[in-house]
Amino acid sequence: MVHIHQLNDFPQYAPILAYWSYHQWYLKRDIPFTALVQSYYERAHNTSTPLAWVAINEKKLPVGMASLKNNDLWSRPDLNPWLASLYIVPEYRFMGIGDSLVKAVVAKAKELGYSRLYLFEGQNETVNLISYYTKRGFSVLEEAHDNDGNPTTIMYMNV
Ligand SMILES: CC(C)(COP(=O)(O)OP(=O)(O)OC[C@H]1O[C@@H](n2cnc3c(N)ncnc32)[C@H](O)[C@@H]1OP(=O)(O)O)[C@@H](O)C(=O)NCCC(=O)NCCS
Repeated sequence: MVHIHQLNDFPQYAPILAYWSYHQWYLKRDIPFTALVQSYYERAHNTSTPLAWVAINEKKLPVGMASLKNNDLWSRPDLNPWLASLYIVPEYRFMGIGDSLVKAVVAKAKELGYSRLYLFEGQNETVNLISYYTKRGFSVLEEAHDNDGNPTTIMYMNV
């Protein structure tokens, strides 16, 4: 059984989440891995954004993550906050864990008093992320370019 926790409950896993993030999104960027580790330790000790969630399996191992943060799309600092860095380890995909992580982030955004939550579509050749997020209550805001210059779509949800 997998449960969703704020990273604050499992701060020791910050470097693992940082590694997933680095491997998934930062390989071509000039940002050191240590900066990401530091950033996840910060999320593990915050009470407001940036925050992170971790999916923990029955052996108390991390199998997925998501974050709530500001300035996720560097070209749109005017839009905040963002559902960011949703990632499930391959062996645990298609079990509804991504869905549970999205719900946790949405609930926290609402609890913190935000009225709107944003995300931008990552590069994914397997899952149609626009339909994935539409099914989970997000709507298309506009087309844009991601932090690496690839075309992306900004989506939002009124929370
Ligand atoms: C996208 C991702 C987070 C989904 O996580 P997950 O835990 O597998 O998601 P869920 O179990 O909640 O739902 C799986 C979805 O994939 C769909 N799916 C399952 N097998 C699929 C396949 N072979 N091809 C396409 N879609 C498939 C399911 O239909 C389901 O979508 P639906 O509920 O809209 O029908 C996960 O695939 C991932 O980590 N991908 C790499 C990182 C990434 O792309 N992150 C998103 C950044 S915006």
